[in-house]
Amino acid sequence: MSDKKATLALEGKDAIDLPIYSGTLGPDVIDVSALTGQGLFTYDPGFVSTAACKSNITFIDGGKGVLLHGGYPIDQLAEHSDFLETCWLLWYGELPTKDEKASFVANVSNHTMVHDQMTMFFRGFRRDAHPMAIMCGVVGALSAFYHDSLDIKNEKHRRISAIRLIAKMPTLAAMAYKYSTGQPFMYPRNDLGYAENFLHMMFGNPCENYKVSPVLAKAMDKIFLLHADHEQNASTSTVRLAGSTGANPFACISAGIAALWGPSHGGANEAVLDMLGEIGDVSNIDEYVARAKDKNDSFRLMGFGHRVYKNFDPRAKVMKQTADEVLAELGLENDPLLAIAKRLEQIALEDPYFIEKKLYPNVDFYSGIILKAIGIPTSMFTVIFALGRTPGWIAHWHEMISHPHKIGRPRQLYTGPAKRDYLALDKR
Ligand code: CMC
Repeated sequence: MSDKKATLALEGKDAIDLPIYSGTLGPDVIDVSALTGQGLFTYDPGFVSTAACKSNITFIDGGKGVLLHGGYPIDQLAEHSDFLETCWLLWYGELPTKDEKASFVANVSNHTMVHDQMTMFFRGFRRDAHPMAIMCGVVGALSAFYHDSLDIKNEKHRRISAIRLIAKMPTLAAMAYKYSTGQPFMYPRNDLGYAENFLHMMFGNPCENYKVSPVLAKAMDKIFLLHADHEQNASTSTVRLAGSTGANPFACISAGIAALWGPSHGGANEAVLDMLGEIGDVSNIDEYVARAKDKNDSFRLMGFGHRVYKNFDPRAKVMKQTADEVLAELGLENDPLLAIAKRLEQIALEDPYFIEKKLYPNVDFYSGIILKAIGIPTSMFTVIFALGRTPGWIAHWHEMISHPHKIGRPRQLYTGPAKRDYLALDKR
């Protein structure tokens, strides 16, 4: 397996040899699984130095700002591919042939409708429920509808579940939005492209024809594609951990949606817009930047920094260009929030604090601006991220289930009280 090894010298004990493995790209990993036999665990809170699995789906070099899916750079995929083709690439590891692509697109289109009883689930939520709360519930609830394909050991079942998830996420997301506005749910239209259909279900209504702008549909597709996968991030790791127990794919993706919701992860795109609104005017920026740099203030500039990227996020570069195109198409180049965003970006790229800590604008910084320009309410931003990330989650889940794997079960450094005897109530 490996002829390289690391030797761990322990005071008062024999040294332990640990094998080192090399991937195609990226840092070598030290296999520490033998340590438990020696009564030792490794300690790595936040998993900053831990490779939790082997994977051949996505590679990131955070120092150089590189993101590859199946070896293909994200900027090339964003320019030449589209979301559904990228879904295929994540699942199969190769780009589809012309016939494979046509049949996959047709297959996804034919699964866009959700069971009509789903509408009852929506009606159970308060009108002002956050759409991410609704998504956690309704995506998990899909498992109650598809008993015919929940055998996770069956490759065909896994594939049909993947197609159902990719196909139905836009329908459920648009339903969550329509529910909050009180408008009727729109049925999907299978003659439209994936992103086009999503915009139709979001902004159309049964009373009049809604014509989807091709520029906006293309931008939406690019947003989905740029979010499609990002190796072992918090939500993907959550999906893998849930999946390692043998839970069904709809339950696992629902767990991923919950993990994505937080403002340190997918919730950041919503937080960026809230922050820009709070700053309110270019003249207030210095005050907020000073707060972000103040160690005694918990405020952070949302949309800046990344656990892995210590360089420009390659997705942010594409997103920035798309933002310029969308704003020009909509005649919004002079939007006041955009002026604040541009000034913040400039500061971050010039200020020694941000330079020293390698805090660059991330993908969420620009995606929020585009989504706002398209007319998508901020509460839907993280839902759009979830929709885009679904093929990545499901591909990682499939990769894990297709290979021998153990249930995910981290250990701990226990710091609670040592063993003690129970004290009767009258003795406390
Ligand atoms: N504004 C100000 N200071 C920051 C920021 C920020 N946005 N991000 C990190 N720092 C500082 C932080 O205070 C720390 O300083 P020090 O070393 O003096 O204590 C240093 O930079 C390192 O921060 P960290 O929290 O240890 O880094 P991390 O890798 O654990 O966190 C992060 C990464 C993305 C959670 C963090 O940068 C952050 O909170 N950013 C804002 C939220 C955001 O935009 N999240 C979206 C991430 S991209 C989309 C996705 O993949 O989900």
